[in-house]
Amino acid sequence: MSASLPPHDVADLGLAGLGQARAEWAAEQMPVMATVRRRFSAERPLTGWRIGASLHVTAETAVLLGTLSAGGAELFVCASNPLSTNDEVAAFLVAEEAIATFARRGEDPERYRRHVEAVLDAHPRLTVDDGCDLVARLHLARPSQAVEVVAGTEDTSTGAVRLRALAASGGLHYPVLSLSASQTRSLADNRHGTGQSVLDGIIRTTNALLAGATVVVAGYGNCGKGVASRARGLGAVVIVTEVDPRRALEAAMDGFEVSSMAAAAREGDIFVTATGNRDVLTREHFAVMRDGAVLANAGQLDVEIDLGALDELAAGQRRRLRPNLEEYRLGPSGPRLRLLAEGRLVNLAAADGHPPQVMDLSFGLQALSLEWLAETAGGLPPGVHEPPAAIDEELARLKLEAMGVEIDTLTRAQERYLAAFEP
Ligand code: ADE
Repeated sequence: MSASLPPHDVADLGLAGLGQARAEWAAEQMPVMATVRRRFSAERPLTGWRIGASLHVTAETAVLLGTLSAGGAELFVCASNPLSTNDEVAAFLVAEEAIATFARRGEDPERYRRHVEAVLDAHPRLTVDDGCDLVARLHLARPSQAVEVVAGTEDTSTGAVRLRALAASGGLHYPVLSLSASQTRSLADNRHGTGQSVLDGIIRTTNALLAGATVVVAGYGNCGKGVASRARGLGAVVIVTEVDPRRALEAAMDGFEVSSMAAAAREGDIFVTATGNRDVLTREHFAVMRDGAVLANAGQLDVEIDLGALDELAAGQRRRLRPNLEEYRLGPSGPRLRLLAEGRLVNLAAADGHPPQVMDLSFGLQALSLEWLAETAGGLPPGVHEPPAAIDEELARLKLEAMGVEIDTLTRAQERYLAAFEP
């Protein structure tokens, strides 16, 4: 343990050794981060930058924070979800990495808010957000402080939607890079990361066999696509629901059954919401579901399943069946519905989130984007921006290199051919 500890609020510093083992395991599977960390240690591009970060406090996040620290940054970190913190990792960050960390798994809303405030009290000049809770709190509760921030990053598409709404109202005071706009990250993170880890969360919690089960996936964005294809791979019959006709068509042409939720509600054994919107599973759906149906949310926020209606319909008839699994009985003759992880994002609340191989790209993008923002500080107007294409390409190149994959390059003649106008 380092001699003087940074400011913190974590569950138990005695868990630091276990957290270190987790972080080392993750780091082994994150070769892009290792490359970036070596360069950051030598060049120290984040020297003098105080970063406030709201992130899921996981082993992979520890690898990112270690890299930013190696690059010279001073870090203040809080959780981006009350249920996703790994207490061992949080202890490791404080005791061994000397990073100011405010995160405890299962923290109540008041402590969650206090932790966000603790990060803002440090007056960061760069923000790193995962769902927009940090930036929203800064702009709503401390608008005069928001102008101190030079720039920020936002990891999720849900966070980007919130940021755009803030920008549209004229209330966003600095530029934020929306990292989910990156092609490389979106492929790895949303499609492969969510696809695998959501099923991991459902299987860990229920031990259900997916072969032969009917899985209803709400939303066919990249997350929904990942979940639907992995569920099919495990032998499930998959029904997709959508509101966007183009995505619904894509799902149908990918060979999935597509229907309204009103119809799918009667068929599903397992429901997964992945829309980024509220009220996807509601009272009228619950009423017609099969007995024993499992409800899981893959979206960033716990608004996709109407938890208030579920509570009301159960009228107190609820019990805990297993960790992260709560049963609601809807009246004496109604179905018993099984809610996973309180309707919070199931892959992080009931499993370990995206695998490190995926976070290698997501957090590689974070690190390179923060370096770029620090270099170009003030160069962008307030608003939501895409990360530069050059960073996206560099990221894919680094990962391919680590995977030992070679690709071709265009010849001069091919470049000229593409650039020329051929009548
Ligand atoms: N978001 C999704 N998976 C994650 C992970 N493993 N660590 C941090 N943030 C995540």
